[in-house]
Amino acid sequence: MDQKIVLTGIKPTGNPHLGNWVGAIRPAVELSRNPETKGFYFIADYHAMTGLKDAKELREYTYEVASTWIALGLDPSRVVFYRQSDVPEVFELSWILACFSPKGLMNRAHAYKAQVQKNQEAGEEDVDAGVNMGLYTYPILMAADILLMQSHWVPVGSDQQQHVEITRDLAQYFNRQYRKEVFTLPEALIDEAGAVIPGLDGRKMSKSYGNTIPIFAPPEQLRKLVFRIATDSSRPGEPKDPEASTIFQLYRLLATPKQTEALKAEYQNGIAWKDAKEALYTLLDQQLRGPRERYEALMANREELDRLFKEGAEEARAIASKTMHRVRRAIGIS
Ligand code: TRP
Repeated sequence: MDQKIVLTGIKPTGNPHLGNWVGAIRPAVELSRNPETKGFYFIADYHAMTGLKDAKELREYTYEVASTWIALGLDPSRVVFYRQSDVPEVFELSWILACFSPKGLMNRAHAYKAQVQKNQEAGEEDVDAGVNMGLYTYPILMAADILLMQSHWVPVGSDQQQHVEITRDLAQYFNRQYRKEVFTLPEALIDEAGAVIPGLDGRKMSKSYGNTIPIFAPPEQLRKLVFRIATDSSRPGEPKDPEASTIFQLYRLLATPKQTEALKAEYQNGIAWKDAKEALYTLLDQQLRGPRERYEALMANREELDRLFKEGAEEARAIASKTMHRVRRAIGIS
C-alpha cells in the first residue's frame, strides 16, 4: 500500500485557541491517525522569524506549540515531528527554488500584497516599507518544506491555499526544466469548518480580534470567558434560535450528535443563557482537562521535547537527503 505523504507546518506563535484546535489541529491529528497516510508535522520556526525576532519568545513558543499538538493527540512515534530549523536541506532547496521563482509570482503573494496595500493606504512613500526579504520570499521557503518531503497532501487553512498553488507552480517549472518528475505535486487540503468558528463576540475567532478562548486556559478563566460570550436579550423561557447562537455553534463543534440534539431541544424550550453557557463550559472542561494536564507535564519536561525534536530531525533529514540527492543530480551539481 502506498501511503500518502501528509505534511503541515505549524508557526510557533503564542497561546493557541479553540479556533486553532477545531480548525487546524484536530483535523490534522485525525489525518495523522489514518493508516493510509504518513505524516510530517513540523514547527515552522524560520517562517515565524519573518515577524518574530525575540529569541526568548521564539524558543518559548516553539516548546508551547509542540506541547500543544502532542497534548491534543499528535503521536510523535507515528509521525515525523521536527523543527524546520533542524533540517538544513530546507534552505538548500529554498535557494534552488528561488532560482525558478519569477519575481512577479512573489509580487502576487497575499501576505506581501497586503503589506503593500497597507502602505499605500497609509500614504507611505515606499510601498515596500516594513517588508523584509523573508516575508517577500516566504512562499519559496514553504515550497521547500513541502517539496523536500515529496508531500501529496498539505492540510492548511484557506489563507495558505495560494502558497500551495505557488509550490505546485515551482515544482512544475523544475520538473519541466529537467524533464524528470523530481518533485511530487502537492494538493492543499482545506478544512472548511475551520473558517467559521465564532469567537466571544460572534465574529470569527481570531487573535487579531482579541475574541479567543485559549485552549489551555485554567478552569476559572475558561469559565469566565465562556460567560463573556455575546448573546441576545431573550429571556429564560423564550425559545432561542440555535443557529444564531455562538454558544450553540461552539458546543456543536465539540459535542456528540446526541448531545447537540439535546441542547437544540433545550433552546426550543427556552433555556436560560446562563445554563447554555454552563453546558458549554462543562463540555469544554471535560474535553480539555486531560490535554491540559499533558500539556503542563510536557512544558515541565523540556529535555523530553528536545529528545523528540532530535529524533524527528534525524527521520526528516533521512528523507530530505534523498530528495536533495535527486535534485543535485538533476541540476548538474553532483
Ligand atoms: N505558512 C504556514 C502558516 O502560516 C506555516 C507553514 C510553513 C506551512 N511551512 C509550511 C504549512 C508547509 C504547510 C506546509 O500557517
